[in-house]
Amino acid sequence: MEKKIEIPYKTFLLSDLSEEDILLTNEAADAMKLAYAPYSKFQVGAAARTASGRILKGSNQESEVFPSTICAERSMLYHYQARHANDPIEAIAVVSSGNAECYPCGLCRQVMADTEKRQDRPIRVIMCGKSSATVIESVKVLLPFTFSL
Ligand code: THU
Repeated sequence: MEKKIEIPYKTFLLSDLSEEDILLTNEAADAMKLAYAPYSKFQVGAAARTASGRILKGSNQESEVFPSTICAERSMLYHYQARHANDPIEAIAVVSSGNAECYPCGLCRQVMADTEKRQDRPIRVIMCGKSSATVIESVKVLLPFTFSL
């Protein structure tokens, strides 16, 4: 039997995002300033807003041993889980130095899905390009057929 999965998402001009999402996007752009990307020369910044209003930030940190590099999203999420995991994340914004919208890699999708499952509340993800953004209301959308133990 053939089945299909539909992916609900919205696209916005950055200026049409809600005020709180614009603020979060600005925080991600600020986080990107601390990216360390001498090898790829591709800087990424991520910011999360929690239920209590806390803002968490991360950026990609590259290693001379390339596989040791960590993406902006995971650097932010692992710090969050180590320090503030009892304060659920409402939204994550991702920005990059590229022009196209920055869609999280597979590893980051998995860790975002782990976080969403752990907090049992959906996380909105705002994936920004230079002038537009793709927005999804739950990480589930990014990782269909998610692995489960
Ligand atoms: N990168 C991120 O930080 N987040 C993503 O969603 C995609 C890729 C980083 C990893 C590496 O430092 C650089 O971008 C190029 O892959």
